[in-house]
Amino acid sequence: MKRYHLTTFGCQMNAHDSERIKGMLEELGLGEATTQDDADVLVFNTCTIREKPDQKFAAHLAQAAALKARDPLKVIAVGGCYAEAQKERLFELYPYVDVAFGPGSIPHLGDWVGAGGHAPRGRFGEWESFAGDLPAHRERGFQAWVQVSMGCNSTCSYCIVPAVRGREQSRRPGDIVAEVATLARDGVREITLLGQNVNSYGRDLLPAVRTEFGELLRACDAIDGIERIRFTSPHPKDFRSPVIEAMAECAAVCEHAHLPLQSGSSRLLKLMRRTYTQERYLALVAELRGAIPDLALGTDIIVGFPGETEDDFRETLDVIEEVRFDSAFTFVYSPRQGTDAAAMPDQVPAAVKSERIERVIAVVQRIARERNQERVGRIEQVLVEGPSRTDESVLRGRTRRNTTVNFTGAAAAGDLVDVRIEGASSTTLRGAQVAPGTTLGAGAVAGAVTA
Ligand code: 5AD
Ligand code: SF4
Repeated sequence: MKRYHLTTFGCQMNAHDSERIKGMLEELGLGEATTQDDADVLVFNTCTIREKPDQKFAAHLAQAAALKARDPLKVIAVGGCYAEAQKERLFELYPYVDVAFGPGSIPHLGDWVGAGGHAPRGRFGEWESFAGDLPAHRERGFQAWVQVSMGCNSTCSYCIVPAVRGREQSRRPGDIVAEVATLARDGVREITLLGQNVNSYGRDLLPAVRTEFGELLRACDAIDGIERIRFTSPHPKDFRSPVIEAMAECAAVCEHAHLPLQSGSSRLLKLMRRTYTQERYLALVAELRGAIPDLALGTDIIVGFPGETEDDFRETLDVIEEVRFDSAFTFVYSPRQGTDAAAMPDQVPAAVKSERIERVIAVVQRIARERNQERVGRIEQVLVEGPSRTDESVLRGRTRRNTTVNFTGAAAAGDLVDVRIEGASSTTLRGAQVAPGTTLGAGAVAGAVTA
C-alpha cells in the first residue's frame, strides 16, 4: 500500500481542508505514514497570509527535496493558498514539486494519485464543490469543523485571501445542517463553523434557501447532541444584532467571539478598508457584552501597516486597554504581492515594526493574564481534549470561553466536566475537577457555574 504524509500550515480552514485531503487520499487507497521518510507521497497544505508561513514552507520543502534526492520515486504535492497564489510559477521556483493544487481543487486529488509519472501537474482556480462535502479523516471524534462558506468578498488592502480563495460562496444551509446532524450522530459534541467571513454567510444564496448566519446558529443549536458551537472568523462590519441575539439565546453557542480589530486608529482602518471606525468597533463590543455578559473576546492586531504613526499605534494600544481582550494574535504587517497596501508609500521601517510588536505583545499578555486571573475561584465547564501536552498526569481541555485549562481529575477525551479554577497565566488556566453538583466554597465567584 502506498503511503502519504501531510504537513499543514495556516488557519483552521486549512486544518479543515487537510482532514478532507487525508480523507480523499485514504479513499483512494493510500495509508497515512508517521514520518516523511516512510511516505511515498509528501503533501503540504500551505498558507500565504504573511511572509513567515511562506518561509516556513520553503524550509520544510527543502527537507522534502533532500529526501526526494535520495528516493526519486517520492511524489511531492503542494496544495493550499501558497500554491494557489503562485500557480504554475511554483514549478519554476521548486522544480522537484510534482503536483500543485489550490484549495478549490481538493476534489480532483484522484486525478493525479495513481496516475503515475512525475510530469508536473497543477490545478488551480476551481471552486465547484465545498471541501465540507468530501470524505474526512477527523483527528478528534468529539470535535469537528464545519465549513459554511468559501472565499471572501471583503477588500482589506493588506490581505491576499480574496485573491487566493476567490469570491464568497455560501454553502446551502440544508447541507450544513445535514452534516452537523451526521456529526452529532457520530458523537461530535463541539462544532466550529468556518468561513472567511461567517457573518456575511447566506447573502449570496438564492431567495428560496436564503438563511442568515443567526438563523444558521439557531438551526445548529437545535440539533440534539451538539453541546458547543463556535464560529470563526466574523468581520466586525457584518456582525449584526440577529447574530448577537442568536448567540445570547442559543444554549450551545459558546460565550466567545473572535473579533479582528486590526488597528485602533480610524484613519488606518480606512486605509486598511475595514469599513468600520474605532467608535463602531467599540459600540459592537458594548452590544455584544450587553447581550452576553460573560463573553470572552479575542482579536487580531496588525502593527506597522503603511503610514502607521506613533499616534495611530497608541490608539491601537488604547483600544486594547479599553476592550480588555481575553486573547489576541498580533502580527507585524507583511507586504503581500498584488495587494494595494504593498504598493502604498510610507512603509514602516523594520526596526519600528519590531519595537511596536513588542510593546503590543506586552500589553496583550498583561491584560490576558489579568482576564484569566479573574476566573480563579470559579467553576467552569470544560470539554476534555486529552492529557496535558507537558504533563501526562494532568488533563487538558477548553472552557466555553475558549481558554485552555490544565487540571487534575479523572475523565476521558470528549467528556464535559466541571473544573474549579485555581490559577492562571496569560494563555492557560489551572484547576481541579469537581464532582457533579459540587457547590461553590466561600469566597468563590458564581457566574460560570454549569448545571
Ligand atoms: N500582514 C500581517 N498580518 C496580516 N493578516 C492578514 N494579512 C496580513 C498581512 N499582510 C492578519 C490579520 C488577519 C489574520 C488572519 O492575519 O490580522 O485577521
Ligand atoms: Fe488560511 Fe489565509 Fe493562510 Fe489560506 S492564506 S491558510 S485562508 S490564513
